[in-house]
Amino acid sequence: MKTLIAYATRYGTTEECAHYLAERLPGEVEARDIRRKRERAEGFDAIVVAGPIYAGRVMRAVERFCEVNREALLRAKVGLFICCLYSGERAQAELEAAFPPWLTAHARIRKVVGGAIELKRLTLPDRFLVRAVGDSDIRRIRFDELDAVAEALKELR
Ligand SMILES: Cc1cc2nc3c(=O)[nH]c(=O)nc-3n(C[C@H](O)[C@H](O)[C@H](O)COP(=O)(O)O)c2cc1C
Repeated sequence: MKTLIAYATRYGTTEECAHYLAERLPGEVEARDIRRKRERAEGFDAIVVAGPIYAGRVMRAVERFCEVNREALLRAKVGLFICCLYSGERAQAELEAAFPPWLTAHARIRKVVGGAIELKRLTLPDRFLVRAVGDSDIRRIRFDELDAVAEALKELR
């Protein structure tokens, strides 16, 4: 089984999650940052697409990756996850909106895996936008949900 984990990230949380997941999957696994290159997803049995949420939307690189790789995605077993700081219904709505409906319908795994903010790393505009969340760093990555993604992917074999 050959698996691609295609992720976008602004500050590294989604990248950390992608690598955490990669270490827990059997077979050949590639974790690739899809921000710069026009990544192609042909030739994988399973593809996990992952991205962070900013102002209610998934990073644009994720939307582009899904558009460009529609056929390869529809041929593969697909898992989707988002990194974000909301939880509950709001996070589910963000997950629903993050991927195109054809991909959401095709995906066998869909998860919200939490997120993190390290204030000193944020650009000034981002710092301004998140001022409402307070003065401390936040780290709420749901490693248990990532474990669940790994287990579910193994079941799909
Ligand atoms: C400027 C800014 C806007 C954000 N907007 C949202 C949001 O609308 N909804 C949400 O659930 N999380 C939001 N977050 C939290 C991020 O999704 C979270 O920090 C995530 O872990 C970032 O992942 P990354 O480091 O891979 O870019 C925001 C964070 C920042 C810094």
